[in-house]
Amino acid sequence: MQSSSRMDRCRICGGTDLALFLDLGAMPPANALLKPEEIDLPEARYPLALCHCPKCHLVQLTYKVRAEVLFHNYFYFSSVSQRMTQHFAGVANDIATRFVTSNGLVVEIGSNDGILLRSLLGRCRILGIDPARNVVEHAIANGVPSIAAFFTEALAVEIRKQQGPAAALLANNVLAHIDDLDEVMRGVHQLLADDGVMVMEFPYVEDFLDHLEFDTVYHEHLSYFGVRPLTHLFARFGFEIFDVQRQSVHGGSIRIFGQRHGASHPIQPSVQELIELEMLRSEREPDRLIRFACDVVMLRNELRGLVAELQRAGKKVVGYTAPAKGVVLLNYCGFGPLDLEYTADATPAKQGLYCPGVRIPIRSPEYFRQDHPDYALLFAWNHKDEILEKEKAYRQSGGKFILPIPRVQVV
Ligand code: TYD
Ligand code: ZN
Repeated sequence: MQSSSRMDRCRICGGTDLALFLDLGAMPPANALLKPEEIDLPEARYPLALCHCPKCHLVQLTYKVRAEVLFHNYFYFSSVSQRMTQHFAGVANDIATRFVTSNGLVVEIGSNDGILLRSLLGRCRILGIDPARNVVEHAIANGVPSIAAFFTEALAVEIRKQQGPAAALLANNVLAHIDDLDEVMRGVHQLLADDGVMVMEFPYVEDFLDHLEFDTVYHEHLSYFGVRPLTHLFARFGFEIFDVQRQSVHGGSIRIFGQRHGASHPIQPSVQELIELEMLRSEREPDRLIRFACDVVMLRNELRGLVAELQRAGKKVVGYTAPAKGVVLLNYCGFGPLDLEYTADATPAKQGLYCPGVRIPIRSPEYFRQDHPDYALLFAWNHKDEILEKEKAYRQSGGKFILPIPRVQVV
């Protein structure tokens, strides 16, 4: 079976009139960090490009890579970030208070290491589902009952048989990773109680475009959603969105609340407000999308120029953190170990490995602090506040961070 294939249809409305607007070239899978013994071997690269559906306004990858190729090694542990831990504890608390009785069942699709469900332990029944076996093992060890699997209609039927219908079904930062959204919706239809609530959170396409977040484009991120495409998807399965909240995490996200069409929650004005905002913005398409692509090229030139200039001045520049978005930025900018000797990341499982494509080694923040380079290019700009706080001593002793997104800035 082929590892990658072209997507000729919109994953939500089936439209075929897709317009390509951003091409980042051929890239290795951004999460496939290399072991030392792998760095001399050839790597697979797959096209990374975005297109826009003029019918439902979904932005999606032009090529998809088979999930088995991507999820094979999964290093993303949500709980490394304090801020995300707090964020999800807040979400869990809100959902449990508003929608779930004490014996109610809360199921989370893409539950990772149990970061969210953990805070509901003892308050209601919980179940996590995530295809990444290694993170599921962590969740179970933390007391969060979890299943290592993709969420399918068959699995939903099975869960309902064993545990009854779900009062709340959550999906945080996972919908964008799923190719077959129809399968998810069929699963939701099977599992959700008649008056149950779906809560889904994902990066918001309007923030993505406004803040030039092109480095969040990688093979796992198949779709870039707004309220309009989601409304379209929900309607096809008899669901509706009754509330939307904007969130500041991950460079700007939205949390949507859905229910079966006509169920008990009144539709809040927030839904129509965001739809109108999206309509207003898209009046400027396709110019807006072309402009986005031009700005991406300009940002690359600026960042390359800055690093070259610092090196000419004898300054040492390294990376800070090794998220997937860093791998995309590094590969797109063409930086190698001669530009950035290493990048420092707090995830123990990443240390000692190498960024794919560019083969930049990953070291620990302790090594970084000892080494005290002149500049650190911060890839996880979404965790900027937390990291600047954590590395206060580095900055107070003359170290500087380069923030790449939404524009190149030295702080
Ligand atoms: P993140 O931006 O959350 O994910 P993605 O891979 O989807 O782009 O990844 C953040 C990375 O930053 C992760 O590898 C952990 C690392 N990190 C640190 O090293 N130190 C920190 O203080 C924080 C908050 C994150
Ligand atoms: Zn569409």
